[in-house]
Amino acid sequence: AATVRYEAESAPATCQGAVESNHAGHSGSGFCNSDNVVGATSQFTVNAASAGTATLAIRYAHGGTDTRSADIVVNGAAVQTASAFTATGAWTTWSTKTVQIPVNAGSNTVRLVASSAAGLANIDYVEI
Ligand code: GCU
Ligand code: CA
Repeated sequence: AATVRYEAESAPATCQGAVESNHAGHSGSGFCNSDNVVGATSQFTVNAASAGTATLAIRYAHGGTDTRSADIVVNGAAVQTASAFTATGAWTTWSTKTVQIPVNAGSNTVRLVASSAAGLANIDYVEI
């Protein structure tokens, strides 16, 4: 099936922080600039045609020099813990990170939860 894009700034997605648009190159009308704290979230509701393993692509930018990390939580269960979001060189340089996730047929909740004190990288969208 074709991939579908879910923008971080578009409901029902939620952003614990601020939706902003000041860094060029993002898709849609903006991105999620999470609060710079452990536990900050960017959450998506995504659809899967069938149950199984799906490839989730996460587009992000990280203009700092540290590596930020996040737990990737699907339907309430952590699929990856402290998954690395490496620096992209500039807040306007967007990269895509892909992870394999278990999904149910129909609606699924995908939550990125910052596990570093600097919060999440800026999150643009996920595709699945
Ligand atoms: C800067 C940048 C933000 C980013 C923040 C951060 O303020 O403009 O987009 O989210 O750094 O370090 O998290
Ligand atoms: Ca931030």
